[in-house]
Amino acid sequence: MKKDIKRIAVFTSGGDAPGMNAALRAVVRTASFNNLHVYGIERGYEGMIDGSLRRLEPRDVGNIIHRGGTILRTARSERFKTPEGRKLAYESLTAFDIDGCVAIGGDGTFTGANIFSQEHDIPFIGVPGTIDNDLYGTDYTIGFDTAVNTAVEAVDKIRDTADSHNRLFFVEVMGRHAGFIALNTGISSGAESVLIPESDSTIEVLIDNLRRGAKRNKLFSLVIVAEGNKYGGVNEIAKIVGERFSFYDIKVTIIGHLQRGGSPTCADRVLASRLGFAAVEGLMHGKRNVMAGIIHDKIHYTSFEDAIKMPKPINEELLRMADILAI
Ligand code: F6P
Repeated sequence: MKKDIKRIAVFTSGGDAPGMNAALRAVVRTASFNNLHVYGIERGYEGMIDGSLRRLEPRDVGNIIHRGGTILRTARSERFKTPEGRKLAYESLTAFDIDGCVAIGGDGTFTGANIFSQEHDIPFIGVPGTIDNDLYGTDYTIGFDTAVNTAVEAVDKIRDTADSHNRLFFVEVMGRHAGFIALNTGISSGAESVLIPESDSTIEVLIDNLRRGAKRNKLFSLVIVAEGNKYGGVNEIAKIVGERFSFYDIKVTIIGHLQRGGSPTCADRVLASRLGFAAVEGLMHGKRNVMAGIIHDKIHYTSFEDAIKMPKPINEELLRMADILAI
């Protein structure tokens, strides 16, 4: 028989993402509204192993909906990858009488939760928080919209200087193995080309596009490169292109961790609030070891297994459109 949920723990884990605080606020307040006791775990699985739990009340999560990062802090835990580490984590949770956990994070977080749930009897529910948008079972992950907006703002600035100097800029954005940030940044910043892991397009095609642009009097160009693309680092790509195409002076910018910070956008705050709320309601209604997501504006629960293993395809139409609009 399923145990009633009376005390829950919540934590943020893996790379931080703007909107994690908004999700945490929604979890704490939904739980408190339903008379559940909530504990916040510091630094993700690391804090779970070390027993760093503290009681969270609705007022403890006031004034955080607009803040980037995570007030609970986060970590990428090596210890939780071991059975011994997970056993220690289980002991900490049982010492606090925790009946269920809300995990706010990405694929690494849910991989850990999935393994834990096969070994121990405390259920988890996931809230997708990662700028990469690479989880199956939700149209968007928390932090993606803010990260893309940050990248677009940066590329708009790069555009001014690229235009002034007749330069070709290669701009690398994050996304780990996924090209969602790159594709959306490319479309919204009017880039000439986008190099993403999901596309078969080659450097030859990229050089042809750049040549065609130069013939059509494009005085500068922007190429958005996803960090996970098949050609490697953006400097390497810029070098290969530079050796074969010398029309523009070439420069490289890596936006890097700027994309992870900043105040979450309205879209991320609403998404985080809905998913934090859905996670607690799901746990109360018997959902176990699933991730709460939103597909076509409706809440869906997807097993951790599917969320991390099923491929999340890129929208091919967007890719085709990006090429056409860059003529
Ligand atoms: O998963 C989020 C992410 O920002 C990826 O886009 C990136 O590859 C990675 O984390 C960087 O991780 P770290 O901050 O640990 O260097």
